[in-house]
Amino acid sequence: MERTFAIIKPDAYAAGNAGAIIAKIQESGLRLVAAKTLHLTEAQAKGFYAVHAERPFFGSLVTFMTEGPILAMILEGENAIRRWRDLMGPTDATKAPKDTLRGTFGTSIERNATHGSDATDTAAYEMGFFFSGLELADL
Ligand code: RTP
Ligand code: MG
Repeated sequence: MERTFAIIKPDAYAAGNAGAIIAKIQESGLRLVAAKTLHLTEAQAKGFYAVHAERPFFGSLVTFMTEGPILAMILEGENAIRRWRDLMGPTDATKAPKDTLRGTFGTSIERNATHGSDATDTAAYEMGFFFSGLELADL
């Protein structure tokens, strides 16, 4: 059993697509074990995406991720990291297959509707960044 960290990003949340995305998660068999809405501050978004700090798109990414509320989630299942990445589709929403979340709900390489951890170490870091042990104690 594996857990991964997921975000419904500000574009998808503002467009009212959170419910449809959660439905897809549940249809896929992944379990939604924690979820909360929050509106990231600039410092929080920079901390979360610190790995991209030197990339040319970093400033724009931080502006996007702070423009409105997000839904932060922990998903659980066998191979949850890979399965959630497959459900999302590739980073560039304009190139993502139409049956993926990014292909359905994203509009560009940046405004791509969802986030997913890319490995076990990043998943652990990201779950700990957004959720405390207290919030997960009984799951
Ligand atoms: P994520 O971390 O959000 O799940 O996305 P990812 O692994 O597919 O892509 P990553 O390379 O980690 O990039 C993080 C987010 O930065 C934005 N981005 N913009 N303008 C650009 O060229 C560009 N490239 C990436 C996207 O919002 C991407 O999800
Ligand atoms: Mg990434």
